[in-house]
Amino acid sequence: MTLRAVVAGVGHYLPERVVPNSEFEKTLDTSDEWIRARSGIERRHFAAEGETTSDLGAAAARAALRDADMTADDIDAIIVATSTADLTFPSAATMVQAALGMERGFAFDVQAVCAGFAFALANANALILSGQAERVLVIGAETFSRIMDWTDRGTCVLFGDGAGALILEARTGTGTAQDRGILATDLNSDGRYRDLLYVDGGVSTQTTGVLRMQGNQVFRHAVEKLAKTAETALEKAGLTASDVDWIVPHQANIRIIQGTAKKMGLPMEKVVVTVQDHGNTSAASIPLALSVGKARGQIKTGDLVVTEAIGGGLAWGAVVLRW
Ligand code: ACO
Repeated sequence: MTLRAVVAGVGHYLPERVVPNSEFEKTLDTSDEWIRARSGIERRHFAAEGETTSDLGAAAARAALRDADMTADDIDAIIVATSTADLTFPSAATMVQAALGMERGFAFDVQAVCAGFAFALANANALILSGQAERVLVIGAETFSRIMDWTDRGTCVLFGDGAGALILEARTGTGTAQDRGILATDLNSDGRYRDLLYVDGGVSTQTTGVLRMQGNQVFRHAVEKLAKTAETALEKAGLTASDVDWIVPHQANIRIIQGTAKKMGLPMEKVVVTVQDHGNTSAASIPLALSVGKARGQIKTGDLVVTEAIGGGLAWGAVVLRW
């Protein structure tokens, strides 16, 4: 008998305001054509004034609870992957906990920038396999619109706000790769690449800061590292790319998504793509894509799903799970 962390529900939330590429043409030397051609992005959502990351996360969590036919009382732990928490502390996760009216269990944040949801899933899996929690609500929630330099056309056109949530539940499996649930994880980071992607402020510098990115350098690392981490996670699960039903990648740039699929020898028909509608929502992009992918009828029970992401750190990783 093998314990598995199985997906029991999924949901997402996007702020009401939709911002098309054409809006940036008014203030920047850019165009809808450039943004579409170089990134695949057509529009993104921005949070309303006063709408915070924990608000987005709580809305996504409610959607996932509805999908799982559960209430907050059924949850033992909440993990929020975010780099844009409401306050320095307490964690966004405890704010979501309070918003859901949950008075038991525990909650904490994970910060691995765009790779945050892979790191959060791996932590949730470890909590479940070690018997510390039976049901974990794993959320990716971000308000990257709050850390943009609106004069930098190389970054501010790429990001958006949103949240997605998964509920993982302990169930027994057979120990084979046919089991539902998380089958393998692969996490990596290399702090030597700090300057490629960072926010130039923080608590100990007493500024909030804005996002700085050497986009073409990140791009170069992304395709190579994403294909490698996905293949390593598959290998750990005793599987190969030919077993994959869906790649659900971090949604940063359609060219990175296409390049990674090509490197893995997988057709784009097996990739869930939402970057055109959401832009890069950092740690929220994978749970958003999982939720949208399920709602579109792409991801079905029993499908083999591989998620992979890379972001500031650099930090990168992949999770193999059977839906
Ligand atoms: N509109 C018009 N021109 C632009 C824009 C814009 N919005 N942005 C940049 N350019 C210009 C540049 O100034 C440059 O001009 P120059 O040649 O005169 O200097 C030219 O376009 C080419 O710039 P590159 O940066 O080489 O363009 P590239 O094809 O690499 O595309 C992009 C840029 C979209 C940023 C791409 O590099 C990318 O997506 N990189 C990865 C981003 C990413 O994946 N981040 C991951 C994680 S994010 C996180 O963890 C928070």
